[in-house]
Amino acid sequence: MRATWGTIISISAGVLLLKLTEIRTKESCYYVAFTYANWTDDRPRFIVNMTFSNQTGIGSITTINEEIASPVSRILILQHSGRQKPRTVYNASTKLCDLQNVFNSVPLFKPAKDNMLKQSNYTLSCPLVKGTYAMHNMRVSPKNPLLSLLYQPKHTFSVSGGLFEELSRGRRLRALSTYFMTGKVVKKSCGSNE
Ligand SMILES: *[C@@H]1O[C@H](CO)[C@@H](O)[C@H](O)[C@H]1NC(C)=O
Ligand SMILES: *[C@@H]1O[C@H](CO)[C@@H](O)[C@H](O)[C@H]1NC(C)=O
Ligand SMILES: *[C@@H]1O[C@H](CO)[C@@H](O)[C@H](O)[C@H]1NC(C)=O
Ligand SMILES: *[C@@H]1O[C@H](CO)[C@@H](O)[C@H](O)[C@H]1NC(C)=O
Ligand SMILES: *[C@@H]1O[C@H](CO)[C@@H](O)[C@H](O)[C@H]1NC(C)=O
Repeated sequence: MRATWGTIISISAGVLLLKLTEIRTKESCYYVAFTYANWTDDRPRFIVNMTFSNQTGIGSITTINEEIASPVSRILILQHSGRQKPRTVYNASTKLCDLQNVFNSVPLFKPAKDNMLKQSNYTLSCPLVKGTYAMHNMRVSPKNPLLSLLYQPKHTFSVSGGLFEELSRGRRLRALSTYFMTGKVVKKSCGSNE
C-alpha cells in the first residue's frame, strides 16, 4: 500500500478526532467541535490544503511534488482543563514506513485507519510518492472509543503534529507540513443532529 501525509493527518484525524464526530450510546451522543486550526506546508515540494467544518468534517488535499524517502509523523494530543497542567493523551513520533504496523497493532487505532483509508485516496506507502491525494468530509467512526475517553465536561483538547522528513545525516527532521488544532468533545442527546 502507498501512504501519504494526508494519511497521517487523517489517521491523526481519526485518532485525533479531526472531524465532526458522533458517537451513539443508549443515552448520549458525542460530537467534536473544532474551534481553531492552522497548518504549514513546504511549498512547492509539498502542498497541503485543509478545510474544517463542524457540519461535514475535515477535508484535505495534499500534493506531493517530490518523492519523500524517509517520512516521520508526529502527533501530540493534549487535554486541557482550566488551570491544571495539560494531560497528555497521546504523544508519538513514528516513521511512516512503520506506521501501518503501528496502526494495525494498536486495536484502538486500526478502525480509525481503516475508516480513513475508505474515505480518501490517501494511501499507506513508503516512500511517499508524487501525486495528489484528496479526502472529503472525513468522518471518524461513531464507534471510535477515543471520543468517550476524551469527553470531560468543560475540557478542551488540542492536537498538534506534522509530517517530517528525516535527513540522511544525523537525525535532523525537516518539516513537510505541521498542523495545530483545538476543539472540544460535546455531549448531546442523540436526536439532534446539529
Ligand atoms: C498555529 O497556532 C499555534 C497556537 O496558537 C501557534 O503556536 C503556531 O505557531 C501556529 N502555526 C502557524 C503556522 O500559524
Ligand atoms: C483550500 O481549499 C478551499 C476550499 O476548497 C479553497 O477555497 C481555498 O482557496 C484553498 N486554498 C489554497 C491555498 O489552495
Ligand atoms: C465549530 O463550533 C465551535 C463551537 O460551537 C465554533 O466555535 C467554531 O467556530 C466552529 N468551527 C467551524 C469550523 O465551524
Ligand atoms: C512528547 O514526546 C517527546 C519525545 O519523546 C518529548 O520530548 C516531549 O516532551 C513529549 N511532550 C509531552 C507534552 O508529553
Ligand atoms: C485522488 O483523488 C483526486 C480527486 O479526488 C484526484 O485528483 C487524484 O488524482 C487522485 N490521486 C490518486 C493517486 O489516485
